[in-house]
Amino acid sequence: MSLDEILTATWLKLSDAVQSPSAGWRLPVLGTVSDASPALRTVVLRDVDVESWTLTCYTDSRSSKVRQLMANPQASWLFYCPEERIQLRACGLASISTSGPEVTTAWASVPAFSRQNYLTEMPPGSTVENCAVVGGLDGDGDREVFADGINNFAVLRCTLSQLVWLSVDGQRQVSSIFTRTDNGVTSAWRVP
Ligand SMILES: Cc1cc2nc3c(=O)[nH]c(=O)nc-3n(C[C@H](O)[C@H](O)[C@H](O)COP(=O)(O)O)c2cc1C
Repeated sequence: MSLDEILTATWLKLSDAVQSPSAGWRLPVLGTVSDASPALRTVVLRDVDVESWTLTCYTDSRSSKVRQLMANPQASWLFYCPEERIQLRACGLASISTSGPEVTTAWASVPAFSRQNYLTEMPPGSTVENCAVVGGLDGDGDREVFADGINNFAVLRCTLSQLVWLSVDGQRQVSSIFTRTDNGVTSAWRVP
């Protein structure tokens, strides 16, 4: 494959991950900076904009990642597809939206059973005396029951500046890097 073909295939694979819950790149690891340390967690890839090189996930506005990104918007994403053995590292600047049409539209796509995730009394990550289970409440199918969850719902968007692609196929490894600036996209092969 040429560099152009790899970039096109990469965006197709990211778009596919948004559509298909079983896709290899559906559950990336999102990295943020917590003081001077890296902080990692799994998220669901919710949207991709190929034109602007933007990735989106949904989260609780009270979560640590939101706090960390407010302090330092630099974010990294790590995708790995075990089927094709392709790793993608992506980095860029993230922004958080908690209100407005974008948030309302995103919230409309959140199923009832997931909406309750945004209704914990205490913020995610709080330590509690007894085991706290989220998601066990009845109300599946009735979105109105958990409608207040929107108050803690946030859309996390990240505009990427770099993609690093790596294919590990048996003994053969190939890697490439794509960088996006105001002047356009540059690409190069890398030593894997
Ligand atoms: C399979 C899976 C998918 C997840 N998806 C999300 C998600 O889309 N958004 C999110 O905020 N947390 C998601 N989580 C939970 C995060 O990994 C993390 O535990 C939580 O967001 C708190 O992280 P933070 O304190 O660093 O913000 C997911 C966890 C797993 C295991």
